[in-house]
Amino acid sequence: MRTIAIVFVAACGLGFAGAPEGKAVFEAKCQPCHGASGEGKAAIAKMFKVEMHPLGSKEVQSKTDAEFKKIITMGNGKMKPVSGVSGKQMDDLIAYVRTLKQ
Ligand code: HEC
Repeated sequence: MRTIAIVFVAACGLGFAGAPEGKAVFEAKCQPCHGASGEGKAAIAKMFKVEMHPLGSKEVQSKTDAEFKKIITMGNGKMKPVSGVSGKQMDDLIAYVRTLKQ
């Protein structure tokens, strides 16, 4: 009985790996520009004179985790590198961005 409970908890943990923790990182580091659900803030798009694709869009979600990491750490076009996200925080953040998929 006890083993079953442990396996169950472990399986749930895996399914949602990092997403709740990633939400906090997203809110602090990405939401100001990308909006609560990654839709992209019109004012930011206007300021940078770019079209911001919703992070949940097929186009953005088709990027690999490695590409996300690169965009976040090195920047992408008009987006500047985001500092202070690394290691587990980065993995949690990417797990959260995956949940925005439309
Ligand atoms: C200062 C505002 C700002 C912040 C903060 C920011 N971004 Fe961006 N992001 C942008 C802009 C502007 C673009 C569009 C850049 C371009 O097309 O030149 C962009 C583009 C992107 C793209 C590429 C989308 C595409 O169309 O290919 C991804 C992915 C992305 N951001 C993820 C993130 C994540 C994850 C975070 C948080 C760690 C973050 N951004 C923080 C402004 C921001």
